[in-house]
Amino acid sequence: MKLAIFPGDGVGPEVTAQARRVLERIDLPGLTIFEGDVGAAAFRRQGHPLPAETIAMAQAADAVLFGAVGDPECDRLERSLRPEQAILGLRQELGLFANLRPASVFAGLEDLSALRPEIARSIDLLIVRELGGDVYFGAKGIDKRADGEREGWDRMAYSEHEVRRIAHVAFRAASGRNRRLTSVDKANVLETSQLWREVMIEVAGEYPDVALDHLYVDNAAMQLVRAPGQFDVIVTGNLFGDILSDQASACVGSIGLLPSAALGERQTAHGTFGLYEPIHGSAPDIAGTGKANPLAAILSAAMLVRHSFSRESEAARIERAVAGTLAAGLRGADLGGHDGTQAVGDAVLARL
Ligand code: IPM
Ligand code: MG
Repeated sequence: MKLAIFPGDGVGPEVTAQARRVLERIDLPGLTIFEGDVGAAAFRRQGHPLPAETIAMAQAADAVLFGAVGDPECDRLERSLRPEQAILGLRQELGLFANLRPASVFAGLEDLSALRPEIARSIDLLIVRELGGDVYFGAKGIDKRADGEREGWDRMAYSEHEVRRIAHVAFRAASGRNRRLTSVDKANVLETSQLWREVMIEVAGEYPDVALDHLYVDNAAMQLVRAPGQFDVIVTGNLFGDILSDQASACVGSIGLLPSAALGERQTAHGTFGLYEPIHGSAPDIAGTGKANPLAAILSAAMLVRHSFSRESEAARIERAVAGTLAAGLRGADLGGHDGTQAVGDAVLARL
C-alpha cells in the first residue's frame, strides 16, 4: 500500500503529521509512506506550487493524504503560481471528479453549531460535489473591450458524461444511506443546470430504490440552515458544491472536524485511488502555534483507509477513536477548548 502525503502550507504539516501517526498505528500491511511538496511550500523550494515530481509521486501512489494550501504572501503572484493551483491541478491531473463531503454533528458538540442545538442534532448529510468541471475548469479571462472597458469572464459548462458519472456516484452513495438524493442546480436560469437536471432524471431510472428531488441552489442554501435534517445525500456541481459545503460545515460548527475524499475512476490493487483532505484551509493565523485541530485530517485518513485501502473495519476503528476522544472532553481551540494538536493526536492514538 503506497501512500503519498502532501502536507502543504500553514497548519497542513501539523495536522497531517498526526494523521500519519494514526495510519502508522493501525494494521496496514506493507504500508509505505512518501512525502511531497505542494502549495506555497513547493513554490518556495521548487518555484512551482505543483512540481512535476509531486504529480508523479501521486500517480505512483494508491492514495494521497493532502494537508492544506494557501499563503497570503502568494496572493500577488500570477494565478498559475498561486498555492491553490496545487489542489486544482492535482484534481485535474488525477481525474478526481467526485468529491465526498460528509457533515454530521458529534454528540455533545451541538452547541458549536451556528444553528440551534435541536436543529444541529438532526444534521447527517453527505454532499457529493462534482469536482472536475463547471466554471472552475472552463476558459476564463479578463479582456479589454473596444470601448476600453475591462470584462472578466469564466465559461460554465457541463457535458452529459460528466453529469452522468457524478450522478452514479451520488445514487450509489444514497443507496447505501437513507435512499434520498437531492440534486441542486439553478435550472430556472442556467442551461448548464437544465442539462444537469435532465441527466439526473435519466440516471434516476436505474436506481428505483432512491427518491430523487431537485432544489434550486438559493432554496437549498436556505433549507440547509432552516431544516438541514431533511437532507440525506446532496449532489451538485463544482461551484455550488464549494459554497454549500462550507455552509454545511458552519451548520456542524467546526470546520476542524470535517474530512473529504476526492475520487476518480482509477482502481488500484487495494481500492479506488483517491485524494483525502480536511475541509479546512491552511489557517495561516494559527500556523506553527500547535493549536490546529488534527481531527479533520485524522477523519480524512479514515476515509482513505475505507475507500483506497478497502479496510472498512480499520476506518471505523479510527472514527470510533475520534468520537471517543471528543466524548472524553478533549477540545481544541476551534471547539472552545485548550487541547493542542499533539495532545489531541495523542488521545486518538491512545484509543487505538
Ligand atoms: C475547496 C477549496 C478549493 C475549491 C480552493 C482552495 C481552490 O475552497 O476545496 O473547497 O474551491 O475547490
Ligand atoms: Mg471551498
